[in-house]
Amino acid sequence: MRIFVQSSRLLPILILVLATITAIFAADEPHANDTFASVSDAVWQLTNLTLIPDTALHRSTSLGGQNFTHCCLLAVNASLTLSPDGRLIKSQTDYIDATIEEFLEANNADQFPCTAEWNGDPRGAPRVIVTSGWQEQTCPGWSLSDSKKGDESEWVNPFIGFIIPCIIFVLVIPRRRKLAVWSRLFVQDLSQIISWIVAPFAMILSGLAVCLDTIIWLCVCFAFAGPMILSGFYEAYLDQKVISFLNEKTSNFRLTIDMRARLLFVVLVGNLDLDPEVFAGDEELTVLNHGRHADDNPRWPNYPGTQTRNPSSPWTHIQNLVSPLRSYRDCALGTPRQWPLHDVTCTVPSCTKLRCKEIPLQRNHFVRSEIGRTKTRLRTMLATQLSFGSSVGAPVVFFLGAFSYTLVTTLGSLGDEDTSLDLAFGTWFMVIPHISVVAGLLLAGNNPNTLEGVMALEFGEVEEKETFKKKHFLGSIFELAYESRYRPKWLWERGRSKQDWIDRVISTYRFRAPSGRRGDMVVDEDMEALRVATTMTITSWTIVLGMTTLLMGVPFILAFLVSFYTPQVGIACRSLTFLVYAIIQTSQIVLWMWAYSGPPQPGKWFKFFRKDGYLYRSGFYNPTDVKSLWQKGKFWSLKSLWAIIWYNLAAIFGLGGVITSIGGTMMQLMGVYSTPKCSVNAEYWTKPHSQVPVVLSKNYALEIADAKKYWVPSAITAILFLALVTFCGWWYQRRLRGMFRNLVSELGSERTDREDIRAIVTPSRDGDEESIKP
Ligand SMILES: *[C@@H]1O[C@H](CO)[C@@H](O)[C@H](O)[C@H]1NC(C)=O
Ligand SMILES: *[C@@H]1O[C@H](CO)[C@@H](O)[C@H](O)[C@H]1NC(C)=O
Ligand SMILES: *[C@@H]1O[C@H](CO)[C@@H](O)[C@H](O)[C@H]1NC(C)=O
Ligand SMILES: *[C@@H]1O[C@H](CO)[C@@H](O)[C@H](O)[C@H]1NC(C)=O
Repeated sequence: MRIFVQSSRLLPILILVLATITAIFAADEPHANDTFASVSDAVWQLTNLTLIPDTALHRSTSLGGQNFTHCCLLAVNASLTLSPDGRLIKSQTDYIDATIEEFLEANNADQFPCTAEWNGDPRGAPRVIVTSGWQEQTCPGWSLSDSKKGDESEWVNPFIGFIIPCIIFVLVIPRRRKLAVWSRLFVQDLSQIISWIVAPFAMILSGLAVCLDTIIWLCVCFAFAGPMILSGFYEAYLDQKVISFLNEKTSNFRLTIDMRARLLFVVLVGNLDLDPEVFAGDEELTVLNHGRHADDNPRWPNYPGTQTRNPSSPWTHIQNLVSPLRSYRDCALGTPRQWPLHDVTCTVPSCTKLRCKEIPLQRNHFVRSEIGRTKTRLRTMLATQLSFGSSVGAPVVFFLGAFSYTLVTTLGSLGDEDTSLDLAFGTWFMVIPHISVVAGLLLAGNNPNTLEGVMALEFGEVEEKETFKKKHFLGSIFELAYESRYRPKWLWERGRSKQDWIDRVISTYRFRAPSGRRGDMVVDEDMEALRVATTMTITSWTIVLGMTTLLMGVPFILAFLVSFYTPQVGIACRSLTFLVYAIIQTSQIVLWMWAYSGPPQPGKWFKFFRKDGYLYRSGFYNPTDVKSLWQKGKFWSLKSLWAIIWYNLAAIFGLGGVITSIGGTMMQLMGVYSTPKCSVNAEYWTKPHSQVPVVLSKNYALEIADAKKYWVPSAITAILFLALVTFCGWWYQRRLRGMFRNLVSELGSERTDREDIRAIVTPSRDGDEESIKP
């Protein structure tokens, strides 16, 4: 209370003192009615003004030696002159959009147009408006961001704010190949002096190679961002469909235990090459590993099948892996029947006798321990994957922190174009975190070594390096990211890959023996249900494409909005960069749909476009298949034409994506976009535009208004959106992993077995003792 009384008495005194001080200083400040000896007396900033900026002495203006503050000073100098009686007046060429009184008042309030900064006054600095022709003539070239001159904000902030954090994301995005670092660079023998001399150089070289690799991968991620997100969502959609199919069929007791295990494996490894080249020596391994407990019965035989299996395919290996869990004997090698066969020795036509029905295999001790092993395999394969939190969550927190810092800087210097453009580019770079969020959603692990370890087949070395190198020169420069027998697909192929895996399951188990009677094979309803569930309809594509558009579109729209409303308001260099990138990504997505979405199912209308139609037969729906290009007789065919068109377009769009994204960012950071060309809108570029007005001031009213209305809200939206996307992604994949784990834990329990199996498999003591010895 006392303090309050005292301070309330003190306040008038304080104000008085302040007013006096202001008055004393005000006496020194130039006013409109004062008389001056020269213009620079009135406006001290114009003292010693030279025609060319001193930066241009070191560097030509076309190489970044321009200084646009200096340019603005020239415009101010040209607008002011002294009247014969010594007062400051406007000269004939007037670029200042204010009266002399207003101008001097603003200058006294530290709002000199060329150097003004946000001081809480929304009126900002007076505008200095020149014409584009004047600007191009007086100050051509551009201004290099030079940290020596204190423009850190132009490139250091973006680097810390979003480029470095993006590299963390890029590193967690799964990939198939990477730049090979020559293994000799990791000097292994350090016992000799010479190795110690060589080692530092080797270290530097390998470090450079790794940096180059990261930059290349960042470029690739930008170039194929759209297809990557789309394909990721496609795979996530299929994951979800298969898991809910399994949930439903498990609760309806429709599937055998081996089918459930098989589908769970497919969910986990659907990103591996389904049909790789056959490695010599694999045949032996796969055959040897199979059929150890063949359980022949003359009435219900094991059929060897007619199809040859690819002994190097992970599909064959998984078939063999789950084969011991089978309930019935094989209808083909490694392909257990899902439904009982009718006794083949029975000759009664349409026999329906129960005793002719195949009896399920005894679930003896061996089978039960195999079930336990399979469960452990599935569980650990899921558990060895990176957790969403560590691979995506932590970098997102880092990214958002740095980005919020830029936002807070903007709030501190509202109306500063540089920070606003930082915000725009940072928002745009959120595409990369979005890719890694989508990649983090997927249940299939990136590292194929997990599967190889689980299989534990007696493979030799991964590949005979020498012969491989001779075959593929490019393949040895960009080596496989994981040294493993199995190869993961690129992220943009993964959705299709998982679909192929599921289709393989469906086509292998499509037909089954009719239940309860003798007769021809019938279509398995469950496989048909799986086919229906995992076939992409228009609705499913709409969902997947919609999600992709959301994740690609929101960063683009926000970035575009900010750069559009950064004066010069309109489509200029930066906003055009964003726009071109968006168009390129849309084209990439269209190209992806062409190659990977598959033909429309057969139907009534537009036969030409559908499966089995003319386009389908000409190979239109499979343009990524380049086999015909290497075959002499087939080179001149429509198929090669599609492949050539497709690959050329993909390369053009990819290159365009890299140039706009990385090139655009580099040009922004270096300051190339400060050139006078970029301060006129794109619509004038081809027309004569020497009369287009260009504002040279800083922190003027429109900038402040736009900052409040667009920059800050856009940045906040971007932060919230990325946080929301990450959170939803985390929640979704936790949910999916939980469902997966439940399905795995239900694998062994008799409760979930099918009825025809349940009665038999319930273990009997005798059966156990018999089967303990293998
Ligand atoms: C300047 O002079 C004009 C008339 O000559 C007068 O109206 C105005 O009040 C003066 N302004 C100041 C700040 O003295
Ligand atoms: C202008 O140039 C003169 C002579 O070179 C120098 O003495 C003076 O300090 C300069 N003024 C400013 C403000 O740089
Ligand atoms: C500044 O203006 C004065 C008078 O208008 C002019 O004589 C001088 O050349 C100008 N300085 C520059 C560097 O253009
Ligand atoms: C540009 O010119 C202004 C005024 O002449 C000067 O204060 C500033 O340091 C210059 N900027 C650079 C980067 O040289």
